[in-house]
Amino acid sequence: MTRHFLRDDDLSPDEQRQVIDRAIAMKGDRFAERPLEGPQTVAVIFDKTSTRTRVSFAAGISDLGGSPLIINPGESQLGGKESVADTARVFERMLAAVVWRTFAQSGLDEMAAGTTIPVVNALSDDFHPCQLLADLVTVKEHRGELAGQKLAFFGDTASNMAHSYLLACATAGMHVVLSGPVDEAPRGDILSDAQRIAADTGGSAGFTVDAREAAADADVIVTDTWVSMGQESEKDARLRRFETYRVDAELMQQAAQDAIFLHCLPAYRGFEVTADVIDGPQSVIWDEAENRLHAQKALLAWLLEQ
Ligand code: CP
Ligand code: NVA
Repeated sequence: MTRHFLRDDDLSPDEQRQVIDRAIAMKGDRFAERPLEGPQTVAVIFDKTSTRTRVSFAAGISDLGGSPLIINPGESQLGGKESVADTARVFERMLAAVVWRTFAQSGLDEMAAGTTIPVVNALSDDFHPCQLLADLVTVKEHRGELAGQKLAFFGDTASNMAHSYLLACATAGMHVVLSGPVDEAPRGDILSDAQRIAADTGGSAGFTVDAREAAADADVIVTDTWVSMGQESEKDARLRRFETYRVDAELMQQAAQDAIFLHCLPAYRGFEVTADVIDGPQSVIWDEAENRLHAQKALLAWLLEQ
């Protein structure tokens, strides 16, 4: 049966573990697996800009023996001129899989419903699940395990990254807490889903306006931009709204002494994080960025086997 990866909880706890462990193994022997030998083609479509997602999917699909077809914003008929459903039917005749960065999650749902090939969410307004696979690989590398680790995310807790942390960390049995202004709280249904998953995995998921409480004894401190793609017109108001949730040295002091710092990038030093933290000894952002490659290769290889 075709499997898709549209949101973090599309993988069960056991499946998530398989993908993460496979990513770590693939990192140790980068060109060993070639499930796209042929080469088979995977389309990677962008309705929003990208550096890491574009490069990691292009390199990863090549590593797997396949051929990446990058489609930049405005280059296809998808969206304005042709329906998602019709596009999906065409894709399945030619491609091994489709990876799509877009705005509405509903577009991804429609694509997945209308095609027999795996569809992967490369960031939507609601989730960024590929980033979370890379982040969990990074946490496992640096902390040794996932279950029981406390991860605290600061700033825009209504964002795609915040929502993905809730679902992916709960799936991994972690304790995830988001901290931001009350009027930017995470979506209630996603928080509930995370809490339901966490009840089974032994983790927990929550939200607090109290940044110091969230940071207390955390093993992983995380933030992301306060102005996500599509929100540029609200930039000035947003920069003021999240001011008290900046990750700085003082907040890092509240966390465990050996806590690591994550940021999906691109980062805006002096806004969501100070330069001394993101460029300091606890930051593992370059491992995190590299792990996009390994995590997505493992995900594609796994999806193609289902
Ligand atoms: N983290 C991330 O997805 O980066 P890009 O927007 O550059 O792809
Ligand atoms: N929240 C950010 C993530 C970028 C990778 C955005 O959507 O722009």
